[in-house]
Amino acid sequence: MIKEVEKILISKDEIKGIVKKIADRINEDYKGKQVVLLVILKGSLLFASDLMRYLDVDVTIDFMQVSSYGSGTVSGELKILKDAQTDLNGKNVIITEDIVDSGNTLSMLNDLLQKRGANTEICSMLSKPARREKDVYIKYCGIEIPDEFVIGYGMDYDERFRNLPYIGILKKEVYGG
Ligand code: IMP
Ligand code: MG
Repeated sequence: MIKEVEKILISKDEIKGIVKKIADRINEDYKGKQVVLLVILKGSLLFASDLMRYLDVDVTIDFMQVSSYGSGTVSGELKILKDAQTDLNGKNVIITEDIVDSGNTLSMLNDLLQKRGANTEICSMLSKPARREKDVYIKYCGIEIPDEFVIGYGMDYDERFRNLPYIGILKKEVYGG
């Protein structure tokens, strides 16, 4: 464990079990269908790559990178840093995220993709329900966690720690909290 981590919240082995369970459900739900795994960069990189190893449906992948501004009463805006290359109209799209926090990013992204004609579902490794501002339906949710800032398994603090194979709680002293 590195010195910036307060405690390991989800171990490497636990992650494996969680991802496998999600994959089993997707395999069941999309049996005989085509699906696009839309990987939301950068955080869901590790999750999506592990998940697709367990998928046995007809799957293709594409990538988007977005960021959101404004929350709560301020109406948010979605900034597309990298767009998908696939025409998603009429496609079954599984949006894979690392974590749903306020829900602002995913709620706007989901609206956008539906406007483009995609048949979307949301798949997130983690969810922090205590922080939700926008109601988003996460069909495939790995695990709900308490309101703590987590790092590892793709998730960063200031672009660091994405490489950790486990999910850990970041020490408050690191971000001055
Ligand atoms: P939302 O729009 O508030 O739901 O923000 C979601 C995004 O914020 C996620 O995709 C993450 O990139 C980032 N995020 C939220 N909580 C955490 C955390 O605890 N650790 C690392 N990144 C986080
Ligand atoms: Mg993210």
